[in-house]
Amino acid sequence: MNSIPTENHGHFPVMLSETINNLNILETGFYIDGTVGLGGHSYEILQNLKNGFLVGFDRDSNSIRIARNKLSDFKNFELFHSSYKDLENVLSKLKITQVNGIFLDLGLSSFQLDSPSRGFSYRYNSRLDMRFDLDNQQTAEDVITNSSERELGIILKEFGEERNAFRIARAIKESKETINTELLIDIINRLTPYKYRIKTRARVFQALRIKTNNELAHLESFLDVFIDFLALKGRIVIISYHSMEDRMVKNKFKELSRNKQLQILSKKPFIPTDEEITSNKRSRSAKMRVGEKIG
Ligand SMILES: C[S@@+](CC[C@H](N)C(=O)[O-])C[C@H]1O[C@@H](n2cnc3c(N)ncnc32)[C@H](O)[C@@H]1O
Repeated sequence: MNSIPTENHGHFPVMLSETINNLNILETGFYIDGTVGLGGHSYEILQNLKNGFLVGFDRDSNSIRIARNKLSDFKNFELFHSSYKDLENVLSKLKITQVNGIFLDLGLSSFQLDSPSRGFSYRYNSRLDMRFDLDNQQTAEDVITNSSERELGIILKEFGEERNAFRIARAIKESKETINTELLIDIINRLTPYKYRIKTRARVFQALRIKTNNELAHLESFLDVFIDFLALKGRIVIISYHSMEDRMVKNKFKELSRNKQLQILSKKPFIPTDEEITSNKRSRSAKMRVGEKIG
């Protein structure tokens, strides 16, 4: 039986036992964790591998450093500061052609959210940075500066599903000062009835983060190619926290199923138990989809 930790450095890997069960891990298999974060899921995958090997990716070099340390009990893994969309390059460097399972846990980690200077959270006053990859040029501040009022409204509407998107965008663009987290919250509070403020803050911050990191484009590129790198009977397991991401995964799985390449093992997405949601509020929007390569 696996030892599944419930807490790790204040970090709760979401749907951990469901992930391990659905990956159906072969002790000697090759696995990809495309979003290593602090290594919570990777640690558990490695616990289940004997002579197998894990390849991990993260766009955030700080997370890679922490994960490397966390996984130092193991020798059979390699981590790359890279997007999971670049799996082809990384696997060809390692001379691996196919793997037995791929796992993605999308979005951002609690570690990133709780890093005050990263600008991901409305709980801290800081610049609006929001980059996963600190080598990237574009920050959320740049997204705001370089977008017209209308473009910004569309970003908040599409990626945040925020009803008041265009009014908030106008107020942001009318500000004479550079928008930081504090100013952004002032604007949201000014334009939003009290009972909706928390949700609107989360939506606006989420929208800016998704745009800053081009997250949907990375997911789309990955979804277009992952099936080629899965061995027969290999599993794909994806946890998403955003309805657009979940829809993209669902539609790609359906297309692959129609082409007789993938058997969908999650007719409806798996969701966390009430117990998990109570102990980790962040898990409440998680949806897990699972498929097995059949051809
Ligand atoms: C929800 S966290 C993963 C947490 C991880 N499963 C754990 O147990 O610690 C998502 C992670 O994915 C990373 N990330 C987001 N988009 C990425 C991409 N396109 N490629 C690689 N990593 C990405 C983020 O930097 C973040 O560390």
